[in-house]
Amino acid sequence: MNSLKGLILSGGKGTRLRPITHTSAKQLVPVANKPVLFYGIEAMAQAGIDDVGIIIAPETGGEIEAAAGDGSRFGVRITYILQHEPLGLAHAVLTAEPFLGRDAFVMYLGDNLLQGGIADLVQAFREHSPDALILLTPVPDPENYGVAELADAPAGEVGRVVRLVEKPRDPATDLALVGVYMFTAPIHDAARAIEPSARGELEITDAIQYLVDDGQRVEPHIVRGWWKDTGRLEDMLEANRLILDNIDARVEGELVDSQIDGRVVVETGARLERTTVRGPAIIGAGSTLADCYIGPYTAVGERCTIRNAEVEHSILLEGAAVCDLDGRMESSLLGRNVSVRRGQRQPRAYRFMVGDNSDISIL
Ligand code: TTP
Repeated sequence: MNSLKGLILSGGKGTRLRPITHTSAKQLVPVANKPVLFYGIEAMAQAGIDDVGIIIAPETGGEIEAAAGDGSRFGVRITYILQHEPLGLAHAVLTAEPFLGRDAFVMYLGDNLLQGGIADLVQAFREHSPDALILLTPVPDPENYGVAELADAPAGEVGRVVRLVEKPRDPATDLALVGVYMFTAPIHDAARAIEPSARGELEITDAIQYLVDDGQRVEPHIVRGWWKDTGRLEDMLEANRLILDNIDARVEGELVDSQIDGRVVVETGARLERTTVRGPAIIGAGSTLADCYIGPYTAVGERCTIRNAEVEHSILLEGAAVCDLDGRMESSLLGRNVSVRRGQRQPRAYRFMVGDNSDISIL
């Protein structure tokens, strides 16, 4: 077989994760203190794909390049491909055509996480040599996803893909499209042949449907293990929970009169005083915590400050500070250098300086 390339889509608008995405790419939001995007790059490396193109947007491309670099630290070679406007996943494929040439490729949405990686999928692709292979997973709410219908097949076998429907009102199956695909060269012709959808995007589901209608062999691959699209806050927190569930305990920072229970990572230079951390949790390098309780499923980024506060099931990006809270903060995502504290001044009132589209709940 020809060489296999990787294409990671890391452009887009990220509207569902505002305000975080006003200043930063959503693919760089950390899950268990590692940018989501890096899990995708690592999955490529693990599957033996060393030639990886990354689609970037003008607004966030520089930041993504600075973070992932030339790929050498992941053991891959990265080529950055600028998509001037987020005109859809199939448009991203066309934008990458000069990089992809006629090679087969794995396409991976840069804000998605797939527990088992993609080695399985790549192997299935090499064995069956279909024209396209799409990842599917059963979901309880298929009406919110792109859904695949499969042809009847003998017992124990899975039929080919016959139809794809985007967010069907009356889903024929519960098999949702996961954000990872394998394509061969005909996908470029398909992407060129389709028209933009009602939301003005060239949809990858339409391009795949074009392949099916054209008589190409589109095979399904059912995912084992979990898959998460981290496009919204709740999904981001859930992904953080799933990844933290599998971390190995490691304490490199300093503990003073502090206690850690369960699987907890305390990175170099972090200092905990009179603090209890109940894992799974991770405390980033250089963070200082004093008189705190940190509950399960919390990822504290680098150089954060938490003082006299309780935090649980949350993600704090680097430099965030949480001090002197009355109650417990939970299910929260704090951006870089965000500060949440109880003021000392009278009258006792809430005082905020909050960016556009922020979301604050107070009970
Ligand atoms: P989406 O999450 O579908 O789109 P989005 O990033 O614009 O987010 P939102 O809906 O919140 O506004 O995109 C999935 C992935 O693909 C994500 O990593 C961004 C990337 N993408 C591109 O690179 N180019 C595109 O044209 C689009 C639509 C998405």
